[in-house]
Amino acid sequence: MVRVTVPATSANMGSGYDSIGIALELYNVIDIEESDHIDIIDKNGQFVPKDARNLIYQCAKRVYDECGKPLAGLKIIEDCAIPQTRGLGSSSACTVAGILGANALLGEPLSRQDVIDLAATIEGHPDNSTPAILGGFCVALLEDGHVWNVRVPVHGAIDFIVFIPDFKLSTEKARAVLPKTIAHHDAVFNLARAALLAGSLTTGKLENLDVATGDCLHQPYRFGLIDNGEDIVRGAKELGALGTFISGAGPSIIALVYKGDRDYLTRAQAMCKEKYPHWKPIVLRCDEVGAVTKWI
Ligand code: HSE
Repeated sequence: MVRVTVPATSANMGSGYDSIGIALELYNVIDIEESDHIDIIDKNGQFVPKDARNLIYQCAKRVYDECGKPLAGLKIIEDCAIPQTRGLGSSSACTVAGILGANALLGEPLSRQDVIDLAATIEGHPDNSTPAILGGFCVALLEDGHVWNVRVPVHGAIDFIVFIPDFKLSTEKARAVLPKTIAHHDAVFNLARAALLAGSLTTGKLENLDVATGDCLHQPYRFGLIDNGEDIVRGAKELGALGTFISGAGPSIIALVYKGDRDYLTRAQAMCKEKYPHWKPIVLRCDEVGAVTKWI
């Protein structure tokens, strides 16, 4: 049996809409082996289809199809800690798990770049799927089936406080509210900040992060779908966050926090308990490893 461990991811990070993402230390662990039928077991109570509609199964089957190999069925055991539909890359993690699991079962016919390309092509969001595979902070764009990507080191002084609400927001709904075209000055606003973000995260120029996570391409439109989202952003900044943004398409919100600020989580928990009981903050570090496949 093959075990694939895939990290959560946070896409966009404010200014890097559809192009920047980071892997976080929260994991889906998927065990997978060939079988004569489809057998899907969920270990922690999240809803997962138990038939051929299952995303992990579909992605694994796609690899078998592309390699011209027949597949009767798979046994898949899912232990998924990444909450679904919260902007933390749960579907990317399942996509990557299915591809890497099948690739291992078939004796690694796909290269790492093949896996990156296929994951982004299936998933549609290279800013999630690429850091899920490579770990760390990635810049990625998908063009004609190929993902141009770079993994950039993140300065060690930053923690990620992830405010997760008890409600869901589908990516489809969160993309439907975005305008079809934007003004030239809005494009410039974001591209300058996305470049500043990449450089500042790498070098640890923490004082840039508030400006560098600024965005006018997607967040202003999405806050209307996230109850108390702007309040969380404001509160997180008042508590001392270095920068804040909607994680992926939302609804989770992330605050970048100086690692030396050891009480930040306690202050964030107190704020949510008192004012925003539908939100729960947790602290996560950047995952530096990415997806891991091993035989068990
Ligand atoms: N960049 C994508 C979006 C991420 O913001 O819609 C979706 O997970």
